[in-house]
Amino acid sequence: MQQLQDPNSVIQAYYSSLEPFWHPVMPSDELSTGPVGVELLGRALVLARLDEGVAAFDDVCRHLGAALSLGEVVDGCKLRCPYHGWTYDKSGRCVDIPARRGSPIPREARVRSYPVCEMYGLVWVCLDQAAEHEVPALPEFEDAEFHKGPLRTYGPWRASAPRIVMAALDDTHFPWVHPGILGDQAHPEAPDHEVYRSGEYLVSTYDIMQPANDTVSTNGDAGAMEKVTYTNYVTPTSIRLVKESAAGTYAIWQVASPIAHDRSLIFSRMARTFDRDPDHDPEYETLQDTILEQDRPIVESQRPWLLPPLSSRMMLYVRPADLPLVAFQKWLEELSIPQEV
Ligand code: FES
Ligand SMILES: [Fe+2]
Repeated sequence: MQQLQDPNSVIQAYYSSLEPFWHPVMPSDELSTGPVGVELLGRALVLARLDEGVAAFDDVCRHLGAALSLGEVVDGCKLRCPYHGWTYDKSGRCVDIPARRGSPIPREARVRSYPVCEMYGLVWVCLDQAAEHEVPALPEFEDAEFHKGPLRTYGPWRASAPRIVMAALDDTHFPWVHPGILGDQAHPEAPDHEVYRSGEYLVSTYDIMQPANDTVSTNGDAGAMEKVTYTNYVTPTSIRLVKESAAGTYAIWQVASPIAHDRSLIFSRMARTFDRDPDHDPEYETLQDTILEQDRPIVESQRPWLLPPLSSRMMLYVRPADLPLVAFQKWLEELSIPQEV
C-alpha cells in the first residue's frame, strides 16, 4: 500500500528541485524597462531592465510587502516601490528610504535577487544563486545553414512542465492526436527507439513514416508518407526535436516555463534548412499551432499533475513503445524531481 504524501510538501520539493535550472520567463523584446511581474515555480517575481542588465527580484517590497512590479525604474539603474518609495539597486539592496533620509539604511532592507540571462530572444531566470545546468541549447540559432522562424509563446497550459515535454517526446500518440499531420491510424506501431544520455540531455532517436505535408517538405505529395528521422534532445522542462527528411532538417525547440506545478508557459522556436523564404513562416507556425492545440486538451487532462513515481505503477507503460518516456521518468527520479500530486 502506498503512503500518502502531503501534496504541499511535494509541490514545494518539486519547485526546489527545479530551482538550479534556467527557466525562460518572457520574451526579451517585451521587456522595455519594466517593471513587469512574472511567475516562476510558485513565486511572484519582478523584472526590470536596468543600465547594468535585467534584474529579477521577489515581487514583494521589504517594507510592507507591496508589489514592486507596480513601481517604476528610476535613474535607469534602480527600482522604486510604488507605496513609500523605497528604492532598490540591481543587487536588491535598498538605497533610499525617502521617509528617513539622512539616517542609515538598515542592512536587512533588501529584496532577494536572482541570476538573469538573455538568450535566444528570451529572459531566463534561475531561482538558485548558482545555476547547475545550461540554458537548453538551440545550436540551429547560430547556424547560418538554418532559416530561423520567430519566437512563439503558448499558454499557459494547465499542466506541469514534464508532462508537456513528454507530450513531444512520445511518438505513439501521433496517429491518434495528429492524424494526417504526424501519423496515420493505419500504422499505429511504434518505431525502434534508441535512447541515451549525452551531457545535459537525454536523447531519443527513431525513424518513422509520416504524412508528407506540403508545408514541411519540398517534395510534399498529398497522402504520401515519407521517412523522417527524429532526434530529440530533452531536459526536464524542454525538448528540441530535430527532424530529418528528404527535404532537409527541421528543428523545433520547445521550452516549458513552470509557473506552478500545474501551469506552464511554452516558448518555441523553429529553424529549417529548406524552404527558407520567410514569407512561408506563417504556414509553419499555423501547422505548429494546430499540433499544439491538438495536444493541449489531452495534456491538460492528465492526472496526477506531477508524474506518479515509476514504482507506483499508476501509469502502465508498455515496452518497447514507451521506452523514451520510461527513460525520461527514470532520469527525473535520478535528478530527485519529485512526482505525484
Ligand atoms: S511597501 Fe514598499 S516602500 Fe512601503
Ligand atoms: Fe502531440
